[in-house]
Amino acid sequence: MEKGISVGLMGFGTVGMGVFRLIENHREKLQHQLGCDITVKRILVVDPDKHRDIQVNSKLLTVHVEDILEDPEIDIVIEVMGGIEQTRDYLKKAFQHKKHVVTANKDLMALHGTELENAASRNQCDLLYEASVAGGIPIIRTVKDGLIADEIQKITGIVNGTTNYILTKMDDEGLAYEDALQKAQELGFAEADPSGDVDGLDAARKMAILARLAFSVPVDLADVEVRGIRNFPVDDLKFGRRLGLTMKLVGVTQVRDHQVEVGVEPVFLPEKHPLAAIKNENNAVFVNSAAVGETMYYGPGAGSLPTAAAVMSDVAAVVKNMITGIQGKSYLEPSYEKKILASHQRFGSYYVRLHVQDVAGSFTIISSIFNELDISFERILQVPKKQDNGTAEVIIVTHETTQDKIGKALENLQTNDVVEEVKSSYRIEGGMAQ
Ligand code: NAP
Ligand code: HSE
Repeated sequence: MEKGISVGLMGFGTVGMGVFRLIENHREKLQHQLGCDITVKRILVVDPDKHRDIQVNSKLLTVHVEDILEDPEIDIVIEVMGGIEQTRDYLKKAFQHKKHVVTANKDLMALHGTELENAASRNQCDLLYEASVAGGIPIIRTVKDGLIADEIQKITGIVNGTTNYILTKMDDEGLAYEDALQKAQELGFAEADPSGDVDGLDAARKMAILARLAFSVPVDLADVEVRGIRNFPVDDLKFGRRLGLTMKLVGVTQVRDHQVEVGVEPVFLPEKHPLAAIKNENNAVFVNSAAVGETMYYGPGAGSLPTAAAVMSDVAAVVKNMITGIQGKSYLEPSYEKKILASHQRFGSYYVRLHVQDVAGSFTIISSIFNELDISFERILQVPKKQDNGTAEVIIVTHETTQDKIGKALENLQTNDVVEEVKSSYRIEGGMAQ
């Protein structure tokens, strides 16, 4: 490509500046690997006068999106501004102007990914979004290309750094939830409004994208069952430890008979599970596939340079497609109709913590509630309460059962006189430690 490649950068914040730095710092290497020069031609921002940590020719900055969309010399748009509706409109216009797009925007791709991939394909353009899931970890390329001839059965991922940081600090240092969240915000892992992180929505968006790619089913965000960790009680971390379990906010997607399950929730993992060792803001994705077996991909799920490196891997892929003349072929229509597994088809063992009246016969009543639903116990732990007020703290770990049965058991416990309160319940992923 003699003329070189010009890119338009939409956004010059954390990720945008990282992309600019990588292009500047690795110009020669990129030239050598791709056989052409990559130049940032325009940068879209809100406030061109804002102080930035990077020196840039002020003529590159613009507040007019047309300066990128309508510039015939710009081949690739790198969208790192965030947002949904306006950004969707900009990207559709970019395709109409025959520009390839690389984006880090999981919010947009989870909600409108299929529509945008179709728009790209119709215009013979590429749309790549490696940075939208797990930042610097090349998980989308692994799922789409690395395991292309394999059959992915299940993906289990810690795909939100903020919640992993919060749970790590609560577990290792005994911090309260609010203090751990504040630290995550100070360190810049959390989104501006951390609700999306702590309520599980950020992870849900990433899991919707992964499920779509891994199982070739048109999964929507609405198909993801989501439960977050807002105000997570530190007590459960302590009881989990006594049982050899570690708490993580985990996204799980799996397929059975072409029926898919996608969910995000706080789950207990046995301490020896590889995902239990993932600390702080790091991400990891654990994949079970028929041919390769178990593989795990680990690294920083966010941050300026890690995310920018993922963006640049997509830019390089687009450039290679342009050189070989195969652009616009990156999207494959989903192969299977969407069928979501119902709650009676979703299996798991569960941890249930109760406050129970400490009187003779209580336990028989509790056991009968589980018995009636054919749920058997694997472990039972009764913990003396600090104040002896006639209430016992009881933790039950069940054998595998279904999601609908455990839901019914919790309902029946809640309305029973001997149970003062159902304090919490969590699924256990990966079995109990022996
Ligand atoms: P950021 O630091 O807030 O930067 C956003 C940039 O976009 C700013 O330069 C801002 O301009 C510009 N911008 C925002 N809205 C705009 C609009 N309507 N028109 C023109 N320019 C606009 O965001 P970020 O952290 O870099 O994240 C960017 C994207 O990457 C998001 O989709 C995010 O979810 C995704 N992502 C981020 C990370 C991460 O570690 N940060 C990781 C993975 C994915 P001003 O500078 O003038 O304000
Ligand atoms: N807030 C996100 C996280 C940033 O904590 O993982 C990366 O998407």
